[in-house]
Amino acid sequence: LIQPVVLSGGSGTRLWPLSREKYPKQLLPLIGDDSLLQATVRRVEGLGLGTIAAPMVVCNEEYRFVIAEQLRLMGQPGSIVLEPTGRNTAPALTLAALAALRGGADPVLLVMPADHVIVDKAAFQAVVRQGALLADGGAIVTFGITPDSPETGYGYIQAGAAYGDSGAATIARFVEKPDQATAQSYLDAGTYSWNSGLFMVQASVWLAAMGVCRADILAACQTAWDAGQTDGEFVRVGKEVFSTCPSDSIDYAVMERIASGQAGLPPGVVIPLAAGWSDVGAWDALWQVLPKDAAGNVSQGDVLLHNCRNTLALSEGRLIACVGVDDIVVVETADAILVAHKDQTQDVKKIVESLKQKG
Ligand code: GDD
Ligand code: MG
Repeated sequence: LIQPVVLSGGSGTRLWPLSREKYPKQLLPLIGDDSLLQATVRRVEGLGLGTIAAPMVVCNEEYRFVIAEQLRLMGQPGSIVLEPTGRNTAPALTLAALAALRGGADPVLLVMPADHVIVDKAAFQAVVRQGALLADGGAIVTFGITPDSPETGYGYIQAGAAYGDSGAATIARFVEKPDQATAQSYLDAGTYSWNSGLFMVQASVWLAAMGVCRADILAACQTAWDAGQTDGEFVRVGKEVFSTCPSDSIDYAVMERIASGQAGLPPGVVIPLAAGWSDVGAWDALWQVLPKDAAGNVSQGDVLLHNCRNTLALSEGRLIACVGVDDIVVVETADAILVAHKDQTQDVKKIVESLKQKG
């Protein structure tokens, strides 16, 4: 049994002004008609892997109605585990594992961030099938992307010895969010991949690993879970206890420790993933994955371009007209307009920070 688990927590400030606190990027139809969350759920359709459980989404309770509606619209109601406050991905996955064990089975969790784009669904499904076998055998499976820049926002995985005979390897090192110089050295070494943020692990294996690495988080999640209740498709956890739960990510809490060989942990495995993966962190990444005209421009909505190249123009209402510009991002919404150079779209979060300070 495979249990798809969609983690939908982040707010995506670098995609301002489309992504807002009230409506984060994974709930927006940034690519096509589906939101990124819906596209994530659809990505497992037709996996052909025995039984696939209905999707489980773990999210902040603030988004419960939007998410429930998006799942219903696609005919995949599933279950929605509600966090009173975000405590990062390790507690989120721990709650998902507790929820998955409710039915008496011990499924393999297929953990998927809600805010990623994967272009090649068939290639994705092929590695998931491979990962399912390894996770069923007790491993924690990650998926590695060939890096093309010294990105500091990702985890870096160094592959060790082959694990089985199908291209998977043990994780020799796992370094979450290295500094720029370290990231550059990993890129130069050529033996590291980026952690895609997708994981496969059996529910009981994850809980046991948390017991070894972060018994405090496991205990807080278990108590919050025991104090929780089910309400239709919504699963609520005890608010007071969960708010005392420490924050940590899957990567720092468990993956780095597995790679460093800490005793009592399951094997960590990496499978290469070449499927047009992007975490669409910022506008330049979105430009990368969207269909372009012959001059490399992406336009959506009411947009007129003359003599422009590699430009991204998205209009929600008013006409955007650009003449003779290259590598520019223009995003028009009802109450804000962003104009940015495509090389500096990471810094859009600085604007969001200063807006927050202004209140
Ligand atoms: N439910 C829930 N609750 N989801 C959360 C929470 C939370 O408290 N915090 C984050 N998430 C969701 C995010 O919405 C996203 O879909 C996913 O979990 C990963 O969290 P990020 O905050 O986006 O992590 P990251 O991008 O910094 O790093 C992770 O992803 C990289 C690839 O994109 C790590 O796994 C890195 O190693 C990896 O390279
Ligand atoms: Mg992310």
